[in-house]
Amino acid sequence: MNRGYQQRRHYAIKAIKAYGEGVAHLEDIIQSITITLIDDITKQDGRPMDVDQLLYGFLCCVMASLLYGEEYAYDDPVCQSISKMTAEVLKAIDPVSLGSLLDSFPVLFRQNIFLKETLMQIQQTQNYVNETLHKKITEYKAEFDENCLKGILDQLILIQKQEVGTDDPVMDDGTIQGIMMDLVVGGMETSHTVLCQAFHDFFHEPDLQKRLQDEIDSQFEPSHIITLKDRPNLPLLQAYIYENLRYKTVLPILVPHRAIRDTKLAGYKIPANTFVLVNAFYTSHNPSVYKDPFTIKPERFLDEHGTVVPPGHPARYNSVGLSFGSGMKGCIGKNLAESRIFLFLANILQKFTVLPDGNLLDRDVRNYKLVTILRPPSLSAKFIRRQ
Ligand code: HEM
Repeated sequence: MNRGYQQRRHYAIKAIKAYGEGVAHLEDIIQSITITLIDDITKQDGRPMDVDQLLYGFLCCVMASLLYGEEYAYDDPVCQSISKMTAEVLKAIDPVSLGSLLDSFPVLFRQNIFLKETLMQIQQTQNYVNETLHKKITEYKAEFDENCLKGILDQLILIQKQEVGTDDPVMDDGTIQGIMMDLVVGGMETSHTVLCQAFHDFFHEPDLQKRLQDEIDSQFEPSHIITLKDRPNLPLLQAYIYENLRYKTVLPILVPHRAIRDTKLAGYKIPANTFVLVNAFYTSHNPSVYKDPFTIKPERFLDEHGTVVPPGHPARYNSVGLSFGSGMKGCIGKNLAESRIFLFLANILQKFTVLPDGNLLDRDVRNYKLVTILRPPSLSAKFIRRQ
């Protein structure tokens, strides 16, 4: 595997670990963003809200705080640039899922089969994103203080400084830019579709929503703001999150892989350098592991005592275990993604009952649009304040 890639990945993981996980400051920021979100929704007084807008708002604010270490309002240019980046990337990969096709079959690039216009669109997006990130990197470098590292960008600048004078440094500004771009692209739409799926599930199955709310009510006072420490007390919610990840399978064929050595798998010989696509959708809906695979049943992930089953259990191993990929190309934002999804759902369900605005939409995953990521239809919702 390419050394530059490995090193970049290693640094990205280091920066996320240092800032994004287990750091009280970030959790404080996410909590404050959640409180603002609850206030904003409450002000709507049950009037219909566009769920996409709401989710992108929340996720952009969290992503901005992760990257830059400060809290920004959704209408702040920093959050807006993340929102625009995400929208532009989605737009670029949308037409007949061309981006996905080019990702999976890069040989098509060489054969010049596709319209120049689409490739130009991808280039334009790239330029916009590069410009936005370049400005932020310049600004943060000018104000850099080693004793007060604010976010992932500061962590990456620190690594760049530590590399000065070493043989073969990799962290130039382009690499910093690339890592930040990877985090935005990898972290936004994936989490968005999981949360969007949750709204579909709550609308189609009000009883599921009620059971999740009952679990929350049995554990906490209404005024309590749910934090990550509360996770072990909400096994049904955790099991539902796993079921959501299984049912929807965010990236049904993960991202393209390559065999790094001659391999034997299930009796098949796979020579080194073979291009490999993993069918995670199949393993997540395999009827011999999941009875009625196209129904939502959080109980699959609970044992007879109502405890979440361990990672090696077949239900987890075959779906959630694979939803984030694994090995040298596995998702580097897994823990962060799971934490954000938990915090959002727990706090929203504690404070509101969500109702559909109009007719129910199709939530059969087999009919979803595939834009590299499987996307449920957009929807709007009414949030009725509880108690
Ligand atoms: C529900 C949310 C998410 C899901 C389902 C998800 C899933 C995945 C999957 C399947 C891969 C490819 C793994 C493989 O093919 O082996 C991946 C890669 C990646 N993810 Fe995530 N992801 C999520 C959230 C995030 C978040 C929040 C971030 C960052 C903040 C992130 C950053 C990345 C990056 C940078 C890669 C590329 C890793 C590499 O190629 O070295 N993801 N993700």
